[in-house]
Amino acid sequence: MATNRTFTMIKPDAFGAGNSGAILKMIEEAGFKIIALKTTRLDAKLAGEFYKVHQERPFYADLCKYMSSGPIIAAILEKENAIVDFRKLIGATNPADAEEGTIRKLYATSIEANAVHGSDSDENAQIEGGFFFNAFERID
Ligand code: TYD
Repeated sequence: MATNRTFTMIKPDAFGAGNSGAILKMIEEAGFKIIALKTTRLDAKLAGEFYKVHQERPFYADLCKYMSSGPIIAAILEKENAIVDFRKLIGATNPADAEEGTIRKLYATSIEANAVHGSDSDENAQIEGGFFFNAFERID
């Protein structure tokens, strides 16, 4: 996978509130191309695996429970400078700290239920995209 890619999830809170379309529209309008997309649901084991980097953190158990509480949308996005630009578009982890106009400011309800995921590095984007999509499920 090229390094101009990032991986995102629309999390259960945003999916459940019917905000997926609005969020995908913001993503496209910001210049990201959706090169893979699926609606799915994580069970607690898969959520635990996805977030295993956080397994020692106090919020890990709650996070896994929350991320398996309802459907999500997973997507691979392409744009020059994808990682940094997408982190800017989504805003700070805690919506209370997120800038106006960011996806989390508009749609997140708490630090846990914060509407969207965005990879924090090229390496993680590749790992996370590979967690959800095989070669037939994305365009290269
Ligand atoms: P993190 O990687 O720090 O944030 P980001 O998603 O902005 O890269 O944390 C991963 C997720 O864990 C975060 O999106 C929401 C959840 N989380 C909590 O529930 N409580 C917390 O105190 C933190 C820091 C994160």
